[in-house]
Amino acid sequence: MIQASGLRKTYPDGTTALRGLDLHVAEGEMVFIRGRSGAGKTTLFRLILGMEDPTEGDLRVAERTMGGGDARSLRDLRRKMGVIFQDFRLIKGRSSRENIEMGIRVLGITGSEMRSKADELLQRLDLVHRANTPVESLSWGERQRVATARALSREPSLVLADEPTGNLDSDLSTHVIELLREANDRGATVLIATHAADILAVNRHRTITLAEGLLVSDIPGPRAGSDELG
Ligand SMILES: Nc1ncnc2c1ncn2[C@@H]1O[C@H](COP(=O)(O)OP(=O)(O)O)[C@@H](O)[C@H]1O
Ligand SMILES: [Mg+2]
Repeated sequence: MIQASGLRKTYPDGTTALRGLDLHVAEGEMVFIRGRSGAGKTTLFRLILGMEDPTEGDLRVAERTMGGGDARSLRDLRRKMGVIFQDFRLIKGRSSRENIEMGIRVLGITGSEMRSKADELLQRLDLVHRANTPVESLSWGERQRVATARALSREPSLVLADEPTGNLDSDLSTHVIELLREANDRGATVLIATHAADILAVNRHRTITLAEGLLVSDIPGPRAGSDELG
C-alpha cells in the first residue's frame, strides 16, 4: 500500500523533516508510527496525502507515484483515504452530524443511507447528545471524536490517524483505537502516529519509530512474529 525509498523532505525554510526514509507497508496492515514531536510523523502523512511533494526519493501510495501525476488520480486516491488530522480540520459553523455526513457524501449513497450511517457513528463515538452542536462549541475531545467518525464514515481503504488520542482520556482513546482496529479488520490499512506511551504499551501491532526524520526501529506485531516462527 505504501512504499517509500530514500524519502526526503526539506521545507522551503530549509528544515529537513525526513532524511531518507525507507518504509514498506503492505495492504491490510495496522502500523503505529511513534516518535517525539518534530520526528517527522506529520510530514510523512502529508506526503502520503499528496499535500506536499517529496524533495528526493520515491513514494508510492496504492500504486500511485506521489510528487507527480495528475490532479485527477490524486483526487481518486484521496477518496480512498480517511484522515484524522492532528488539528482536526472540521468545518466551522457546521454540526457534528454535518461534518460526519460530509465524509460520507463522496460515496454517492442516498440521503437516508447517509443519515443512518452518521447516526451509527454518532452513537458509537458517544456523540448523540452533540449531533446538532456546531463543532466550534465542542470540547477538544469531542472534536477529536467527530474527526474520527468523519474519517471512518467513508469506509476508507487507507486510514491515516495523526495523534488520534492526543486529547482524550484513556477510556475514549481505547475506544478510538478500537474503531481504528475494526476498520483494519474490515481490510483497511491503518497508520497511527502517536507519542502516547499508554497507547503504545497495550498495542500489539507493528510499531515503527522515527527520530529526526529517520526510521530507527521497526518492530513487527505478534502476527508477523508468529508467522516467522512457522
Ligand atoms: N510547514 C513547515 N515548514 C517548515 N518546517 C516544518 C513544517 N512542518 C513541519 N516542519 C518541521 O519539520 C520537522 C518535523 O515536523 P513534523 O513532521 O510535524 O513532526 P511530528 O509530527 O513528528 O511532530 C520539525 O522540525 C518541524 O518543525
Ligand atoms: Mg505531528
